Amino acid sequence: METLTTSQKMKTAQDFLPINGTDHVELYVGNAKQAAHFYKSAFGFKTVAYAGPETGMRDIASYVLQQGKIRLVLTTPLKSSNPISEHIFKHGDGVKILALWVDDAYKAYEDTVARGAKVYMEPKTLTDKNGEVRMSGIYTYGETVHLFVERKNYNGVFMPGYEPYTSDYNPEDTGLLYIDHCVGNVGWNRMNDTIKWYEDVMGFVNILSFDDKQINTEYSALMSKVMSNNNGYVKFPINEPAEGKKKSQIEEYLDFYEGEGVQHIAIATNDIVKTVRALKSRGVEFLSAPPNAYYEDMQARVGKIDEDIAPLQELGILVDCDEEGYLLQIFTKPVEDRPTLFFEIIQRKGAQSFGAGNFKALFESIEREQAKRGNL
Ligand code: FE2
Repeated sequence: METLTTSQKMKTAQDFLPINGTDHVELYVGNAKQAAHFYKSAFGFKTVAYAGPETGMRDIASYVLQQGKIRLVLTTPLKSSNPISEHIFKHGDGVKILALWVDDAYKAYEDTVARGAKVYMEPKTLTDKNGEVRMSGIYTYGETVHLFVERKNYNGVFMPGYEPYTSDYNPEDTGLLYIDHCVGNVGWNRMNDTIKWYEDVMGFVNILSFDDKQINTEYSALMSKVMSNNNGYVKFPINEPAEGKKKSQIEEYLDFYEGEGVQHIAIATNDIVKTVRALKSRGVEFLSAPPNAYYEDMQARVGKIDEDIAPLQELGILVDCDEEGYLLQIFTKPVEDRPTLFFEIIQRKGAQSFGAGNFKALFESIEREQAKRGNL
């Protein structure tokens, strides 16, 4: 049988739900004002919009941060009676919404609900002087939500309810360009249902799979399958824990997030050395570098690459390849006290995969952190 490349597999996805990309990622956080400052100072985002009591939102404060094509929304409840408070009480700070940019939010809703999606938000149209935003939403794994956002008739900075926000504090960006993929962790035996959900409800296709034989260390194991839409603009890898000698990092996540949720957001850059240097200098903490042997064996494993190895080794940047090229990647430590959400910085040089060749080196690094927390 002819084997398809990862890019060719994407094209086999049904396109009943055309998606133009990620519209935004919304985190529910305990203190959005301070979280916004962290993402500005450490990651180089800019605050572009705000919603709160001053803009007519009585019970939340919400900041929209932007860098490149990435929009992060940080929302906090102002009273314990707001349901967002319960979400934060249970999960800690984390991703609530993976919003997808569509041409028709009403049709996206009708089609996905007809295919079995659980309703989060019925279609609605928000209007202000800048036009209208149409949106709807469905639940995916855990309490996580996909919003469908249609903004073709809107010229405002984000959406009705938000006002432009200007600040005297505008740190330089760190070269972050767009969201490459967002990874979800699901519970024991939940992989197949989740994959089927993305196939049946969203028309996505499974472009890559790794089982616990491929992804394991001496102590822990996991399974991972990558779901993509037809144009490849939206990719959701899904992880499930697997039995190992000790507790896997996925189990640790599920324990501390108290359920399924977004594990990491991967952000693309065109110059990973420059970006990682900038992030480190601003206090972003990355997982420790793999042992020197990793870099000594690298050329034999991935072939010749354009970059000098020394800065990659100095910063702990990992390299992997597939049949279409190679990629460079590195992972932050969790960005909150619970060992839950973290970020990946990725630079693709042709490769369409996710760094499976690095999983072992990566997990050993994560396990060193887990051991420090007493969770291994
Ligand atoms: Fe990733």
